[in-house]
Amino acid sequence: MLELQGRSAIVTGGARGIGAAIARTLVKSGVGVVVADILEQEGAETAESLGPTAIFRELDVTDEHGWRRVIADAEANFGPLAVLINNAGILDFGGIEAESPAMFRHVVDVNLVGAWLGMHLAAPRLRAAGDGVIVNISSTAGLMGYSGMAGYVASKWGLRGLTKAAAIELGDAGIRVCSVHPGPIHTPMTAGLTNMAAGQPLPRFGEPEEVATMVGFIVTEAAFSTGSEFVLDGGATAGATLEPPAATHQTWQ
Ligand SMILES: NC(=O)c1ccc[n+]([C@@H]2O[C@H](COP(=O)([O-])OP(=O)(O)OC[C@H]3O[C@@H](n4cnc5c(N)ncnc54)[C@H](O)[C@@H]3O)[C@@H](O)[C@H]2O)c1
Repeated sequence: MLELQGRSAIVTGGARGIGAAIARTLVKSGVGVVVADILEQEGAETAESLGPTAIFRELDVTDEHGWRRVIADAEANFGPLAVLINNAGILDFGGIEAESPAMFRHVVDVNLVGAWLGMHLAAPRLRAAGDGVIVNISSTAGLMGYSGMAGYVASKWGLRGLTKAAAIELGDAGIRVCSVHPGPIHTPMTAGLTNMAAGQPLPRFGEPEEVATMVGFIVTEAAFSTGSEFVLDGGATAGATLEPPAATHQTWQ
């Protein structure tokens, strides 16, 4: 079992939404948490609300030097790194023909390259500590396609693949790496996307706390899981609902 007392965790995109809920859950498990985000005021307020075992540090996940500072700060404040949650993400809109190359690159840079940078720089610290857990927040968009957000879908599939590659490389160092695939969750990212849950077996949005509970389980309990996909999507990826034909008793021969 991962020992969290006297150790540190980093949650990117921790200022609000899913990241803030994950930070709250991790603090309760006894690890010191760095809330890392580009949103200074919201990030500082979130960390303040979590008490003395949380601090805010400004981080743009695409900035390698920023990552180095945040990892050093986490260890200086709370002890050897134990947990990295790659949660920071952005959503693009625009069809494959309409989206600008700059926007596509930006989404992939934040959602995928940013997470890679974090793993690239955190893995040696976890290796030095002797164990650790990395959780990458992907999406159902990392399990299936959606129209109008190609950069997001590509980045979330990439993050799922990156998770498996890292899990294979880091297992012998006692480091587990898993991906989480939420369906629609009530956060600022989905404000205005009101019909996203329509047609799901459970036709509702999830709450950030439900994602945080799953992440907490991965960190503290799922000791035999690595390279694994943890899905919470109200059944959205279970399959499609088909309308039965008019003659419902007809059998096909
Ligand atoms: N809300 C959903 O329905 C949903 C579903 C599946 C996956 N996700 C994923 O969950 C994660 C969290 O999303 P959320 O719904 O809480 O959205 P959100 O917009 O509320 O939170 C995202 C956070 O990431 C931060 N961020 C953005 N760019 C950053 C950067 N370059 N560096 C550091 N921080 C940055 C934002 O400032 C924000 O605090 C994202 O990766 C998102 O793709 C969300």
